[in-house]
Amino acid sequence: MRYVVAITGASGAVYGVRLLQELRGEKVLVMSEVAKSTIPAETEYSVSEVEAMADVVCEDSDMSAPIASGSYEYDAMFVAPCTESSLAKFACGIADTLVSRAFACALKEGRRIVLVPRETPKSAIMLENELKLARLGVVILDANPGFYSRPGTVGEVVDFVVGRCLMQVGQKQELFRQWG
Ligand SMILES: Cc1cc2nc3c(=O)[nH]c(=O)nc-3n(C[C@H](O)[C@H](O)[C@H](O)COP(=O)(O)O)c2cc1C
Repeated sequence: MRYVVAITGASGAVYGVRLLQELRGEKVLVMSEVAKSTIPAETEYSVSEVEAMADVVCEDSDMSAPIASGSYEYDAMFVAPCTESSLAKFACGIADTLVSRAFACALKEGRRIVLVPRETPKSAIMLENELKLARLGVVILDANPGFYSRPGTVGEVVDFVVGRCLMQVGQKQELFRQWG
């Protein structure tokens, strides 16, 4: 399995980091410029340490990267965390960064796409953008943990969301105890 993992500049960089650590398969990573500042600000990792968790690293400005083409095959794209700014671009078809271009290609090729937005409260514009994408088959998986697994640490709260991401691509997850 091959996955594209995009990390954008929302709070919750740790979601992208944990996803890279837990996702099995080949991982192509792209980080937005703001993500490169939230990662060291919010996590114990440097940007280069996060890059080392991926098999291929692309720059957000590199429009000649493989994932900028619809002919590049992979199984699913994750954007975790996903800013409402990037999500707005996705909803409008704007493709002026590698993250947004990769999304546009994934959408037109009918690939599985999982977005992990992190914003609260949400404006009607944000909700409309999310609804538009959901109607196109994009999975909107909010960074919004359940508590039935009784998380006791921040890490366990994060892992609930990451476990739900893994389930979206059929990967058996043991990051949290599923209901029942
Ligand atoms: C420390 C920090 C935290 C941010 N948190 C969020 C957030 O949780 N959600 C969001 O949608 N935008 C957030 N932003 C704003 C985005 O980073 C900003 O809209 C940026 O233009 C998004 O660009 P990108 O999508 O290419 O990363 C945050 C910015 C900073 C500097």
